[in-house]
Amino acid sequence: MRAVGYTLRTAVADLIDNSISADATTVDIFFGDQPEPYLAMADNGSGMTAEVAIAAMRLAGTSPMKTRHPKDLGRFGLGLKTASLSQCRDLIVISKRNGALCGFEWNIDHMIERQTWSLLVLAEEEIRQLPRFSEIADLASGTLVIWRNLDRLEATVGDLSSAFDTAMMDVRDHLALVFHRFLAGEHDGRFSISMNRVPVKGSDPFLESNKATQVGPSESFSVEDERIEVRPYTLPHLSRMSSADKNRAQIAGRVRDSQGFYIYRGLRLVIWGTWFRIAPKDDLGKLARVKVDIPNTLDHLWSLDIKKASAAPPPQIRDNLRRIAGRIVEPSRRVHLYRGRIVQEQSRTSPMWNVVDDRGTFRYEINRQHPALEMLADQMSPDDVTQLSSVLTLLESTFPVEDAYNRLGQDESHSPLQPTAPELEGLASALWKAHKASGGDSELFVSAMSSIEPFAHTSAPTELLWKVVND
Ligand SMILES: Nc1ncnc2c1ncn2[C@@H]1O[C@H](COP(=O)(O)OP(=O)(O)OP(=O)(O)O)[C@@H](O)[C@H]1O
Ligand SMILES: [Mg+2]
Repeated sequence: MRAVGYTLRTAVADLIDNSISADATTVDIFFGDQPEPYLAMADNGSGMTAEVAIAAMRLAGTSPMKTRHPKDLGRFGLGLKTASLSQCRDLIVISKRNGALCGFEWNIDHMIERQTWSLLVLAEEEIRQLPRFSEIADLASGTLVIWRNLDRLEATVGDLSSAFDTAMMDVRDHLALVFHRFLAGEHDGRFSISMNRVPVKGSDPFLESNKATQVGPSESFSVEDERIEVRPYTLPHLSRMSSADKNRAQIAGRVRDSQGFYIYRGLRLVIWGTWFRIAPKDDLGKLARVKVDIPNTLDHLWSLDIKKASAAPPPQIRDNLRRIAGRIVEPSRRVHLYRGRIVQEQSRTSPMWNVVDDRGTFRYEINRQHPALEMLADQMSPDDVTQLSSVLTLLESTFPVEDAYNRLGQDESHSPLQPTAPELEGLASALWKAHKASGGDSELFVSAMSSIEPFAHTSAPTELLWKVVND
């Protein structure tokens, strides 16, 4: 039972599920190593009577077949015990309901000694000595779960006197993500989580606060008379993300790896960053994310695992998701392709680089008809032009396209050096000289140059060009 495969973060999240199901509005998590390493979680939910708490300590004390309240995040009647004992040898549950206090303990060493499932019943005196009891002391109702003797946790993260903080940072990130909709108050209520008194801020994987995020129309379909809601999002291009946005968007390591469906069960994120093999995870779809809301009444279809950390969509749902997925990846592709086009539109027929598609292969070529090059060429002897062209070919053939691909894939942003004002003026004046020498007109020069790179990207291209022309 201890080896079901929880990690610290999934175990803590499982306990928060219970607090949410008990209508808690705050969950305060404490951890420390004094007098000995412990983790405690206090909530102000409805609490349990002694009778209910005893049932809660029982494995599968609640039937998985039971129809649950739509807001209940539980399913198996196992989480409290399996999640806790996956990390510690000593689980204590203290609960208060309408002022009545009770406390129970599963202590693995005690059970081994007794050779039986012997539940310890705690007296009020003992309860008052426990770490963080003060957190629920003044509440009429609430629950305090304490983990002590954290052997499994220590085995995975190392000595807790130094590794506890780091391990809990990872927990914080996880909670910020999986409960972000509760932390944003979407379940029509207040909800907050704190860790050693520091509030956990929700982390929205769709970056809805970024104006450049494209929110698609929501769609729904029915399975066994239950509604599943789907809403596609296209994240902004990486260059339009703040570093905080980027952190939020990089869930599975890289933005690209975090594309896919985000499945919420009762507003709680359970699975994310996968297309369930319906679509490939390709670079062009890397900004596509799809929010899927499923109710807990369809649990029997999803082959949900105990940790609620994995599930496979049943055929009825899969078919609908496949239908929607195809359409969804498209806008993400457009965000990528659009950036190429924008330069071309501004410069009409004069991009600096052309992409040449050649029977399934492609290459980048410097546009020999670019006005800047044509003007230079007009001033050169035919031999020099031939030489210039071979230098350009050399540049094209060594363009580090693989390196660019790798870097962009690693979410690095491309920020080319922009020419300084004197450099731009120098370039403009060289071009103007060449243009003038071949009998060119100033009006034409300014209008042609102001719409092409690099001048088009400056704040006032025509002013700069007229200044050069009139000097
Ligand atoms: N923080 C809490 N406040 C109030 N009641 C709780 C709390 N934690 C657990 N319980 C009670 O204990 C029962 C057992 O919890 P447990 O997490 O083991 O199973 P579950 O939540 O029913 O299902 P799952 O295994 O899917 O988590 C819950 O159904 C609930 O009645
Ligand atoms: Mg539970």
